[in-house]
Amino acid sequence: MRLWTFLLFCGFVFCELFFLTNCAEQRIREDKLLVLTVATKETDGFRRFLRSAKHFNYTLKVLGRGEKWQGGDYMSAPGGGQKVRLLKAALEEMKTEDKIILFIDSYDVVFASGPKELLKKFQQAKHRVVFSSETLIWPDRHLEDKHPHVREGNRFLGSGGFIGFLPNIKEMVSDWTGKDDESDQLFFTKVFIDPAKRKSINITLDTKCRLFQNLHGALDEVVLKFEDGRVRARNVLYDTLPVIIHGNGPTKLQINYLGNYIPNTWTFETGCAVCQEELRPLTALKESEYPMVVIGIFIHQPTPFVTVFFERLLKLQYPKDRLKLFIHSQEPHHQPQVSSFLKDHGSLYQDVKVIEPEEAVDGAEARNLGMDMCRQDKECDYFFSMDIEVVLKNEDALKILIEQNLLVIAPMITRVGRLWSNFWGALSAEGYYARSEDYVDIVQGRRVGVWNVPYVSSVYLVKASVLRSELSEFELFTSQILDPDMAFCHNIRSKGVFMFVTNMHTFGRILSTDNYKTNHLHNDLWQIFNNPVDWQERYIHVNYTNMMKDKLVETPCPDVYWFPIFSDIACNHLVEEMENFGKWSGGGNTDTRIQGGYENVPTIDIHMNQINFEKEWHKFLLEYIAPVTEKMYPGYYTKAQFDLAFVVRYKPDEQPFLRPHHDASTFTINIALNQVGPDYQGGGCRFLRYDCSISAPRKGWALMHPGRLTHYHEGLPTTGGVRYIAVSFVDP
Ligand SMILES: *[C@@H]1O[C@H](CO)[C@@H](O)[C@H](O)[C@H]1NC(C)=O
Ligand SMILES: *[C@@H]1O[C@H](CO)[C@@H](O)[C@H](O)[C@H]1NC(C)=O
Ligand SMILES: *[C@@H]1O[C@H](CO)[C@@H](O)[C@H](O)[C@H]1NC(C)=O
Repeated sequence: MRLWTFLLFCGFVFCELFFLTNCAEQRIREDKLLVLTVATKETDGFRRFLRSAKHFNYTLKVLGRGEKWQGGDYMSAPGGGQKVRLLKAALEEMKTEDKIILFIDSYDVVFASGPKELLKKFQQAKHRVVFSSETLIWPDRHLEDKHPHVREGNRFLGSGGFIGFLPNIKEMVSDWTGKDDESDQLFFTKVFIDPAKRKSINITLDTKCRLFQNLHGALDEVVLKFEDGRVRARNVLYDTLPVIIHGNGPTKLQINYLGNYIPNTWTFETGCAVCQEELRPLTALKESEYPMVVIGIFIHQPTPFVTVFFERLLKLQYPKDRLKLFIHSQEPHHQPQVSSFLKDHGSLYQDVKVIEPEEAVDGAEARNLGMDMCRQDKECDYFFSMDIEVVLKNEDALKILIEQNLLVIAPMITRVGRLWSNFWGALSAEGYYARSEDYVDIVQGRRVGVWNVPYVSSVYLVKASVLRSELSEFELFTSQILDPDMAFCHNIRSKGVFMFVTNMHTFGRILSTDNYKTNHLHNDLWQIFNNPVDWQERYIHVNYTNMMKDKLVETPCPDVYWFPIFSDIACNHLVEEMENFGKWSGGGNTDTRIQGGYENVPTIDIHMNQINFEKEWHKFLLEYIAPVTEKMYPGYYTKAQFDLAFVVRYKPDEQPFLRPHHDASTFTINIALNQVGPDYQGGGCRFLRYDCSISAPRKGWALMHPGRLTHYHEGLPTTGGVRYIAVSFVDP
């Protein structure tokens, strides 16, 4: 080694170790940096700050832990003096003079990069103390003229973040004698605008947000840049990449939004999300040790598929003796469904509380009461709120949500085929819905994660601990102006509690309750338009979808096709609906329709239009029959038109059989609605031309055959019981 290189090397080491000021060109070592923050409470925002600090390996010291906050509510009024007092005290104890101190707020702050970049930018600022800058002056506007002019960038000081050498910061706060609720911002501003102090302490502002980005007044300047599957917040006005992002003043929601993406915990590749490192798996627990959950179920309007809701509730994967139910129904119409569920299964649960419609408890009050049932119950660990229109398909949903270990979390559910979901990505200035930039991507699953959002509804899990602390107020849902859910979310936000929605799994959907009529016995049959997916799940045979693939279409007679179409429940509901209607007609001369000459052979029947079911029936034929028709009779296309579609009743003592006839149709659909054996004896159908019979019709299966010309047929005698079939003459 030559002498000069040796000397240079030594000089470098010397600077690195002892940090002499005349070596300012040398990099400050990262272990010289200490982050100080004041946090009297461990809020969700503070936990987020900690995660981001940990992510970048900052060395952190928290001041004021457990102390009572007396610094005022500096959302509305100046305050924050307590922070200066705590900082001053902490600095007085520090003796290592070569420390670099970063002092920042934490509840609404995230790091976007690590100590190395921060220190580099600090050094480039060429001052001993660097303060964050603001576009707006606060709290004393009269001081504007006293601020030095800047050519470009923000002119005013922000006390939410500054960085500097320990001795200079000590000097800066040494004069503090203020009270805890006095303004720290005003104090530091006065130091800064005093030319002598500014010079002696050597203070400057980070005017172009290279280190600190305060969001207040600067929302338009800050965008998320997605590059190489990574994301970083960028100030597009000054073309800088701030290291620290601060959601100061009224920008809490924006920092929550940015906090979903920074620090770089989120990538397109992994679809990773916030909070994953704090997962608390339930697998470690015995079932008897599972958290106790109160499930609140709210029936606040007539809703389809209520019975199915309770069937799913029963299938929820969670030990039932760790569940308590709170059910509020405002709908007398749904009482039978609630009662029948509770009669059959209520005793499986640890406890059941029901508020009946007669008690006239309103929606908001019921939600208050439900949550309070958990809050007041020492055993309760979580409150799981579910509105009756929620279709929670994922049987593990409750476990998945609990494992996220968050205070408030909702599973994302959507309305089929719509952009509607149970969360909002953003809030309008008036506090109503606004669409966030990422809303559509989240709803459609192109971005996957656990998202901090300003509003959730319909189904969500709340930790009991937060109901006993931040959310201990009973009337969380009560408001003069807001809907109960909006009032609830408003309260959560104002307490600084975060709400999350997860789309890491598929959870389910929400039903449409629009136009739901309750004038029939089985109103769900009419839901084929409003809730087609649920209608299909309930009423279409489980093997229908695989029918073509698995060659389930049978050909019992030439050109007669036989395939599964209706579920058992569909058959039962249709028969019960007809019997409930009861106006069976035909046989004689009583029915003019039959005299109209369409029907060659009168039957004892009720037509679909008599129960106002013809539009729904047509939709059913179009959606479920037409594809089979077109497959089996290639080249024939049908719009599934019909004049006659009806349910026929065969009874030995009423009308046991039907004499041979042609149908007034291009093709006919004949669906067996009950089962030979248990329900009736005899029955079936014979095609005379082929001398071919289907003598053991299967419940829920359809026979499809050409109507005229070839398929002259008869209904074989029903010898016992009652047989029902649904017949449609398609394309007359
Ligand atoms: C933080 O430190 C750990 C261990 O020292 C290291 O593996 C990791 O890469 C560091 N993270 C960053 C962002 O520098
Ligand atoms: C501030 O300190 C730097 C060195 O750290 C020096 O170059 C600069 O002149 C100082 N500025 C003032 C106004 O004293
Ligand atoms: C559906 O098909 C499978 C396989 O053919 C059969 O085992 C099952 O019983 C069918 N389901 C019903 C409800 O008929």
